[in-house]
Amino acid sequence: MKSVYVALLFLPFVLAGDFTVGVGKDENTGKKGLGFDPSSINPQVGDTIVFEFRSGSHSAVQSTFANPCTGSGGFNSGVITVDDSLGVDAPDLPTVRLVVNDTQPLWFFDEAGGLCNKGAVLSVNPSITQSDAAFKANAESGTAGSSGSAASDDTPKSTSDDAPKSTSGSASGSGSATSSVTGSGSSPSQTPPPNGAKHFAAGGAYGISIVAALWALL
Ligand SMILES: *[C@@H]1O[C@H](CO)[C@@H](O)[C@H](O)[C@H]1NC(C)=O
Repeated sequence: MKSVYVALLFLPFVLAGDFTVGVGKDENTGKKGLGFDPSSINPQVGDTIVFEFRSGSHSAVQSTFANPCTGSGGFNSGVITVDDSLGVDAPDLPTVRLVVNDTQPLWFFDEAGGLCNKGAVLSVNPSITQSDAAFKANAESGTAGSSGSAASDDTPKSTSDDAPKSTSGSASGSGSATSSVTGSGSSPSQTPPPNGAKHFAAGGAYGISIVAALWALL
């Protein structure tokens, strides 16, 4: 019987999935093009973002909400070049994987593609105050944090400004996945994003699993 509870305990991890995001693929047309397809995703802790690269030279580089088109020094896929002869959904397109470790929002742009200011950005777990639309607007305006007027509370914006964006060596750090997110996520003063209905459900299931496992031990 106990094995059942042990199985329950690990259920959230068993369910961890892949979120495939096309890079250099237009999410509206489904063809090769600008940006990420889809341009906003809501993975849970333990899920994996799979960047799948299309024709041309592209890179998925982590940035910040306020400065979408500047590398934060965090994740950088490195520049991936795919031959033009490969179709938009050709098999075995190159991929780079990134595991999601917490529920904090993550922000990315296609640095090598060079069209960040045209909206080549990806929002991961955006919130109400830091929405994917506002992130895209920040990228297209090219001005740091200029779209924050809609936010009723300045706190979430300033936390994103706290991210260590001073390290600008993102383009050269091919494949290095040093995480500035882990650091910012450890701040006890941060509030979780209010959009985390699914996260809450996963957390709830996990909590129940823990309770069930503890109960089994009694
Ligand atoms: C999650 O942790 C792994 C291992 O420390 C790290 O390589 C990865 O970059 C982290 N993910 C994010 C989104 O920072």
